[in-house]
Amino acid sequence: MRSWITTATAIIGLSSTLAVAAPAVPRSVNFSPLPLRNGFPNPNQTEVKQIQRQAFGTLPNGAVPSNISAEGLNNLRVIALNELFEVAFFTQLLSNVTHDVHGYTVKDKDSKDLLVKTLTAVQAQEELHALNANGALKHFGADPIQPCRYDFPVSDLDSALTLAGTFTSVVLGTLQDVIQIFAQNGDAPLTTGIASVIGQEGEQEGWYRLLQGKIPSELPFLTASTRDFAVNALNQTFFVPGSCPNLHTIKSKTFEPLTLLDTPKAKTESIRFSFTNSTSVPAKDLRLVYINQQNKPIVKNFKVVKQEEGTVTIEATFPYEENLLNGLTIAVLADAKQSLNSLQNVSDATKFGPALIIVN
Ligand SMILES: *[C@@H]1O[C@H](CO)[C@@H](O)[C@H](O)[C@H]1NC(C)=O
Ligand SMILES: *[C@@H]1O[C@H](CO)[C@@H](O)[C@H](O)[C@H]1NC(C)=O
Ligand SMILES: *[C@@H]1O[C@H](CO)[C@@H](O)[C@H](O)[C@H]1NC(C)=O
Ligand SMILES: *[C@@H]1O[C@H](CO)[C@@H](O)[C@H](O)[C@H]1NC(C)=O
Ligand SMILES: *[C@@H]1O[C@H](CO)[C@@H](O)[C@H](O)[C@H]1NC(C)=O
Ligand SMILES: *[C@@H]1O[C@H](CO)[C@@H](O)[C@H](O)[C@H]1NC(C)=O
Repeated sequence: MRSWITTATAIIGLSSTLAVAAPAVPRSVNFSPLPLRNGFPNPNQTEVKQIQRQAFGTLPNGAVPSNISAEGLNNLRVIALNELFEVAFFTQLLSNVTHDVHGYTVKDKDSKDLLVKTLTAVQAQEELHALNANGALKHFGADPIQPCRYDFPVSDLDSALTLAGTFTSVVLGTLQDVIQIFAQNGDAPLTTGIASVIGQEGEQEGWYRLLQGKIPSELPFLTASTRDFAVNALNQTFFVPGSCPNLHTIKSKTFEPLTLLDTPKAKTESIRFSFTNSTSVPAKDLRLVYINQQNKPIVKNFKVVKQEEGTVTIEATFPYEENLLNGLTIAVLADAKQSLNSLQNVSDATKFGPALIIVN
């Protein structure tokens, strides 16, 4: 352990802020590592045993309720969609590191060994998360979610870990929503398994953060998200268009992308976003809304600074100081005519987004 942290931060570099917006690097094309050699996403009993050994643990074997709500089924579908993507991502990342792909070389042997060992466990742990959600769908007589083809906007280890930290933050927020929806719809027995996965993904998050030179625990209360934000973030960023066999079985709103143009720092300042105007809603009827921690949505006016061939560039204040906007902030453009007083209402009123901001 002794040399790991210093070596890793030296190799991987330090970055205090990040934002996933327009990727500045070439994208891998139409990548699909699924199905895996071990049969995933449809492993047989022998293969499941092998995945469990690799994951350092087993699928839950406790009693599953015999009924579930429609919203509960949608929760399971969103989880499966996300976990399948994570399996694909970590499979490719593990392969890149193991085979010293350009940009993924870790020179120090101990550091590389620990990275490979960790990613090997994470890959299988994500497989079990996906199998658990798809297994529950089958148990309730619903079709399991099938993998898409994916496109990851990274080509070096530093960016890959930063990206892993970003989408894991969105997952940590979305699973809060999932738990609440289970609880509201008579699906209480399904909440505890999700809570256990929130902790598990939180352990991963701390590690991805440490490797970026950040403190492991990002906030006292992690930022909340919604299923619709998660599905749109995945669909806009990683899914090869048209490649998801049963994305349509997931009930979700579809938003247009909102691109973050400036990476905010830990201070109050003006930042710019852009979007392609595909709506008849005039800019004056939209608001920029920030979601951070467990706080009320922050609703801001913005100004249109440029309008060119359908691309609209806007500028708004990122009110860091008064709100301590650390960790994940989800930014969206939402319809000002609807209530923007709660996370769910903002999500329902969203037209463009989510743009993901991470400070510190
Ligand atoms: C793995 O490396 C390839 C080649 O650079 C890259 O295109 C791909 O996005 C990388 N995948 C991950 C998950 O880092
Ligand atoms: C599981 O699949 C593997 C690989 O296809 C095969 O070798 C093995 O016999 C199968 N085991 C069972 C129990 O079906
Ligand atoms: C499932 O059945 C139990 C017992 O009849 C009931 O209390 C619960 O509300 C039902 N849950 C859903 C989601 O329908
Ligand atoms: C996913 O993105 C495609 C465009 O690539 C869009 O046509 C589709 O409606 C989106 N689906 C969801 C559920 O957002
Ligand atoms: C988008 O374009 C339409 C038609 O030109 C216009 O009426 C509307 O105000 C624009 N909306 C935004 C958000 O720029
Ligand atoms: C959310 O919107 C609904 C419908 O407009 C409204 O009744 C409700 O009070 C709003 N929630 C909050 C917390 O403002």
